Amino acid sequence: MKALKLVLAPMDGVLDAPLRRVLTDINCYDYCESEFVRITDITVPSGVLLKKVPELQTGGATRSGTPVYVQLLGQYPDVMASSAALACRMGAAGIDLNFGCPAKQVNKSNGGAALLRNPDLISQICTAVRESVPSHIPVTAKMRLGYDNSDSCMEIAEKIFSTGVDALCVHGRTKADGYLPNTVRWDLIGKIRMQCPVPVIANGDIFDRASAEKCSSVTGCSTLMLARGALYLPNLANVIRSNEEPFSYEKMVDTVHRFVAAFDHFNPEGNIFARMKQFLSYLREYYNELYTMDIFKRVCRCRDVYEALSLLDSTVPEVVGSGAVLNEI
Ligand SMILES: Cc1cc2nc3c(=O)[nH]c(=O)nc-3n(C[C@H](O)[C@H](O)[C@H](O)COP(=O)(O)O)c2cc1C
Repeated sequence: MKALKLVLAPMDGVLDAPLRRVLTDINCYDYCESEFVRITDITVPSGVLLKKVPELQTGGATRSGTPVYVQLLGQYPDVMASSAALACRMGAAGIDLNFGCPAKQVNKSNGGAALLRNPDLISQICTAVRESVPSHIPVTAKMRLGYDNSDSCMEIAEKIFSTGVDALCVHGRTKADGYLPNTVRWDLIGKIRMQCPVPVIANGDIFDRASAEKCSSVTGCSTLMLARGALYLPNLANVIRSNEEPFSYEKMVDTVHRFVAAFDHFNPEGNIFARMKQFLSYLREYYNELYTMDIFKRVCRCRDVYEALSLLDSTVPEVVGSGAVLNEI
């Protein structure tokens, strides 16, 4: 496979600073992105940025040195621009603009995917942000193929890339597709790439080495963004990049321990048990034993995270002894 660049995606409510730390400690990502920071009609307060992106206090990078781009979501060009400039002064390694979030709450206030119906406004936002951000700091945009359908995907892409942004990430689905399986259109990402003078980052349904290879060959993109797959298999980026062995069940359990420690570092007052169960609900897509051996259910019956961690530890010999084979996703 040709050399690929890999980006760890933004995932609101999931890929927060603790998980970014763990996954960029384990894998060689070129950069990662913060969850979206919602920008209203005033410049975002610095406290909000620091809460969402604590890595701004450590040079705009995770512990392993992986750069963290701050993703902004909003509809007012001037406020997006001033918020982006502030994030850069605070140490952001890059700025990404969200034109894809399908959440009702966000779309209601004309944010995220709602802007796909207004390519001129997208263009104004990109222009204003690119102008406000120092030229050595990358500005990227992340779009879906359209709102109801993909008819305007090329027009939207052109509006974006003609503003001078440094790269365009395309999630190969429309807003209407949500996250439905079998809806991703890598071919359309490829069409956009052929017209686009800046690098296009392909995103959607990359879950293993084979799908990464196929996505790259269909789209012609040499940079891929990984979202859910990066949570199903914690060392997915290294599996894709350097053909590393997929993590064993034991290493997956170790990753959960690392997540609990990282969460305790960033957010000691937070509900770690809920977040651990959320992480396991992604992991069980790859580690099917979590279903088939009722391990996830048993974890949910634990009283707290410590009991859950020792239960998980105790399942390692059980799973290894069962000869369970790791699964294709
Ligand atoms: C729970 C969840 C939260 C997400 N949050 C964001 C977000 O904050 N910003 C964004 O641009 N995309 C967000 N996405 C979209 C992902 O970044 C990605 O584009 C999408 O999941 C497709 O990639 P995948 O098939 O590799 O998962 C989110 C997706 C999920 C499932």
